[in-house]
Order: sequence, then C-alpha cells, then structure tokens
Amino acid sequence: MNNHPITIIIFGASGDLTQRKLIPALYNLYHKGRLPETRIIGTSRSDFSHDQFRQHLLQGIMKFSPDTYLKTSWEKFSHNIKYRKGDLESKKDYQGLSDTLNELEDQPSNRLFYLAISPEFYHQTIQNLGEAGLAKQNGSKTAPWTHIVIEKPYGKDLNTARDLNETVHKVFSEDQVYRIDHYLGKETAQNILFFRFANTIFEPVWDRRYIDNIQITVAESVDVGHRAGYYDKAGILRDMFQNHLFQLLSLVAMEAPASFDADAIRNERGKLLRSIRPLRREDSIAGQYLGYCDTEGVREFSRTPTYAAIKLFIDNWRWKGVPFYLRSGKSLERKATEITIEFQKPPHLMFGLSDPDDLTPNILSICIQPDEGIHLKFQAKEPDSDQNMQAVDMEFHYQKHFGGVKLPGAYERLLSEAIAGDPSLFTRSDGIETAWQIIDPLIHSWEDQTTEDLAVYDPGSWGPEEAEALLVQDGRRWRMNCGLHDDCIEPLPSQT
Ligand code: BG6
Repeated sequence: MNNHPITIIIFGASGDLTQRKLIPALYNLYHKGRLPETRIIGTSRSDFSHDQFRQHLLQGIMKFSPDTYLKTSWEKFSHNIKYRKGDLESKKDYQGLSDTLNELEDQPSNRLFYLAISPEFYHQTIQNLGEAGLAKQNGSKTAPWTHIVIEKPYGKDLNTARDLNETVHKVFSEDQVYRIDHYLGKETAQNILFFRFANTIFEPVWDRRYIDNIQITVAESVDVGHRAGYYDKAGILRDMFQNHLFQLLSLVAMEAPASFDADAIRNERGKLLRSIRPLRREDSIAGQYLGYCDTEGVREFSRTPTYAAIKLFIDNWRWKGVPFYLRSGKSLERKATEITIEFQKPPHLMFGLSDPDDLTPNILSICIQPDEGIHLKFQAKEPDSDQNMQAVDMEFHYQKHFGGVKLPGAYERLLSEAIAGDPSLFTRSDGIETAWQIIDPLIHSWEDQTTEDLAVYDPGSWGPEEAEALLVQDGRRWRMNCGLHDDCIEPLPSQT
C-alpha cells in the first residue's frame, strides 16, 4: 500500500447497501483507526445536499451499527463525505465526476470505485468510467492506484458472467478488480484455512480415508421479503450456491496453497471447483416454501426454487467417493450456516453395543454463523457404567474465547482488503466462470418447464421431505450441531 490518500466513490449511494453495510463498515474501520486518510463521494440519481446525505447515512449507523457510534468520531469521519448527483447512463455526468474528483483531491489520490448498483447498469457504468479516463492507473507501486469493487450477482449464467468479464477487462486490468462474495469476508469462513493449515492434527485425517461425508447448510429464517423482483428471476441456486456455498466448499476441500498469497489461494480454490463432477438433476432437490407465490413481485405460478439440496462429488485423489451434501433455503426454521465433517465409524468395535449403527460417529462442525465456533463430537464412557458410551461435545466459541469481542462484519474486512490491494478474499474472473459452469446445467434443468414440479415445504420447517430422502437413501442424515446446546452462549450480534 502506498501513502497517497484515498477517495472512495460509491455508485448507488442512496441505496440500501450503502446505508446498511458500506458506510457502517467504513465508519467502524475509521473508529478503530484502520482507515487511512479517506474521503467518500456518494453518487446516485437522488437529490441530496451533502448534509442531507450525511444525515441519511447517520440514520443507517444508528440502525445497523449503533454500538460504535460516537458523536465526535462520526463528525470527523462524515466531514469527509460528499454527495454528487449523477446519472449512471449520462456520459456527461462521468466527466463531471472526474472534474469533481480533480477539484476535491488536493494531491494525487488512490481511487476506489464501488458499484453498489443494480447489475443491469454494470456494463454501462464500467464503459463510462473507461471513456471518462477514470479507470487509469499508472501501475508502479508508489503511484496512486485505481480499484473497482463489483457486487454480486456477477452475471446470471456463464455467458453473462463471461460478457461482464470481457467488459471489465476492456477497461480495468484484473488486478484492479475486486468481485465481492461477502461470505469470504466472514471471520469464520476465513478461519477455515487457519483451522486446517495452522494445525497439525486435522489435515492427516482430512480425506476419503477417514471422512464419510461433508455437509454444508446455509439456512435462513427470512423469506424473500421485498426482494421478490430480483429473487424470482434468480432463485436459490444463483443467489446462494453459485457463490456462497461454493466458496465454503472450496475452503473446506481445497489443497494447501504454497503461500498465503492471493493468487496461490485463488488457484487452489479454482482447482477444487474444477474437480467437481458434473452435477446431476437426480442428485438434487429443489423446493419452494408455501405462500411464496403470494409475495408481491413474484410471478404467477412461479417455479423459482427458494430451497435446494444437492449431492456432489469431487474427482481428485483426496475426495474420490466422498459425498458432499449442500443445502440452502429461505423461510427455514432458523438462521444457521454450518459445515459438518462426518468421520467414518471405527473399523471394529470391541464394546458391546446392541446395535453398532447407534454409535454416533465423530463429527466436526464448523459454525459459520450465528453461533460462531467449532464443535467436535466424540464418544466418552458413561461414568459408573460398564460399557455404555455417549457422544459428547468439545466446543470453541469465539465470543467466550475472545472475551465477548464483536466479530467484524464481512464488509469491514472486504473494504479494508480492497483498499490494501489484497484480492485473496475476492473472486478472480476464472473463479466466477467456473462456478457458473458447474451450476448452469442444474439451473437449466430445474427451469425446464416440462419436468415435474418443485417440492413444497412449510415456512419455518427444515425444508422439503425430499431433501431428507436424498441422504436417507445413502444411509445418512443431515446433521446440525452448532447452537443447539444448553450451555451455548448467546450468538454474536453482527456478521454479514
Ligand atoms: C446474499 C443473498 O448474497 O446473501 C441473500 O442475495 C441472502 O438472499 C444473503 O439472504 C445471506 O447472507 P448472510 O450473510 O445473512 O448469510
């Protein structure tokens, strides 16, 4: 990182993301003394004076991040926030933005453009930035840089993602581009690599010889709410699997990178995704919660899935034959993101169990949210019994261990990395395309109107019964181990 001041230009400044995530994250960084000298310029079509804009952002802080609010600190931070009305489709406005930037910046400055806008405007905005000469950077380590952060959804299938990459690469070089998947910014997701590769005892058993299956659950209790317009065209496979679930999968299953360098890590994540065997419709279940079609903005008789469960295999030496079960859905019983590693049962049991099937295998649960931590289930002899055993749980909770410290939100981490110029927690163009390549055929098969209907499930349940059957037919069942214990402490507040 060089010593030039930074200008962050947020397109879509009047929107929800800016108020709910971006400004609270930047303010928290500032509050912790982790934000280098930075000015922020918000731009959108709304009419705001600078002060009105700051007031609008302050409301977001009070609502979404009130714990860190301090009047004096906010006043200093917000003093460097400006607003400029602008139309994404007007070339003139980009020239105007360029002039504003040149006026405000009293010395050469790094620039971070953030696209917090509807994806239909991505192409045009990127092209316009290019034409206005705003994408340039000189490339030397000491000269000011120009970065662009692009939100998800990044395309809606392989072709559109490729088109977008093409547009991006005509204007920006890959090292200027930061594609967001906020799951990579979660502390608990980042910890997966530390857990696996900063310890000696887990990696030797982390393969087909010891692991029976791996499950990834990303359950949400919320329904589609006011996002039906977007969601009904996307569905769960685009909205959650192509990005978040595949990222968690790659972190838990990838090989050890040679270094902690962004490309080394992204190469391994990509290699893992490329080893996924083509997905089969018969290994998947798609469902819709009852009442979804009555939501405002949802098409009549919509076949958009709000739930999916898939079984997949990774064809490499480490994982040959180990099933990975992934599921995610809206309107489920509770919010829980968990990775479960189920180990094989002991090859021979000398204890007198009436039914060896009753033995709970060792289960390692990586609790991503909201009960952040790790659980390990193992067998213990019941005291004062002859040969009775019980599965007991060894637990690590972030909140308990790290003294109640509030985990930083994902955007805090991601913004600070995009500023520092470390793209490890962002998706490279090839990674995005590979993920689409894997999921596209499955999406198309479920969108095919000639096939049978989606499974239905009750809101507040754990999803359709058919998803249970997907595992039962393999002699397995979904396992959830995080946040279920009596002595479990309150989950942490933030984390998105
Ligand atoms: C977003 C999806 O990417 O992730 C939303 O578009 C979903 O539909 C959200 O609700 C879930 O994020 P988190 O961090 O709450 O698990």
